Amino acid sequence: MTPFAAFARTAAALAPRTAVVLGSGLAGATRAFAERASVGFGDIPGLVPPTVHGHGGRLAVGAWAGVPALLFLGRQHFYEGHSWQTVTGTVRTVAELGARRVVLTNAAGGIHPALQPGDLMALRGHIKLLDATAWRGLASDNAVSQPYSACLVDAMQANERAAGRELLAGVYAALTGPSYETPAEIRALARCGADAVGMSTATEAEEAVRLGMEVAGISCITNKAAGLGGAPLDHTEVLTNAKLAVERMGELLAALIAAA
Ligand code: HPA
Repeated sequence: MTPFAAFARTAAALAPRTAVVLGSGLAGATRAFAERASVGFGDIPGLVPPTVHGHGGRLAVGAWAGVPALLFLGRQHFYEGHSWQTVTGTVRTVAELGARRVVLTNAAGGIHPALQPGDLMALRGHIKLLDATAWRGLASDNAVSQPYSACLVDAMQANERAAGRELLAGVYAALTGPSYETPAEIRALARCGADAVGMSTATEAEEAVRLGMEVAGISCITNKAAGLGGAPLDHTEVLTNAKLAVERMGELLAALIAAA
């Protein structure tokens, strides 16, 4: 039996309904997750081993606060040289394993003035500025007009209110990276209605919706976007500030998984 077939057999026994994709530096959000089995990206048909520091590159199955869940520790990025087919392989794997809900998390730069490093933002929409499909989603045959479930945004906000916190629901601008944006690009994105900016999630969200899944997105704000904070951006700052939000991210994920 291949490593993936063995993993799929364990996953089938647990029958998880929700899959979580963890973004840069967010592995600490998984304290409530008890792992039962895992498989490396390199052993999953359609995926390849990861290259970026901070990404584990495994798919695990287990129980999150007692509720079965799939958990991607790491994801595949376009800027690593992967094709979009590979980048979206994660959500096709989720569909193959039978889960109907996917929660896509990411690290992002904050554009909205209320967003500080260590804050979370629920995605209520995105602006996909990726390769040849930039701005063109709505013009294509298989357009996805609203990838993020409004019910799940409401549920996340209610959960945060109950904990005495406010959760902004905003628009995520997805750029290819790997370099961070220029301050002029951030000013342009702000005028276009973007609240946060990052290098992932949008394509996965659209593929998941095409596969009939319910999608939630959560950005962990790791820095003020270029030109809005004091210092130049770097990947170490992103990983350090992601740690500020992991507790809260873990609680939010537990609530989404429990409600599925
Ligand atoms: N820009 C793009 N991607 C990011 C950022 C950013 O400022 N922070 C974390 N990921």
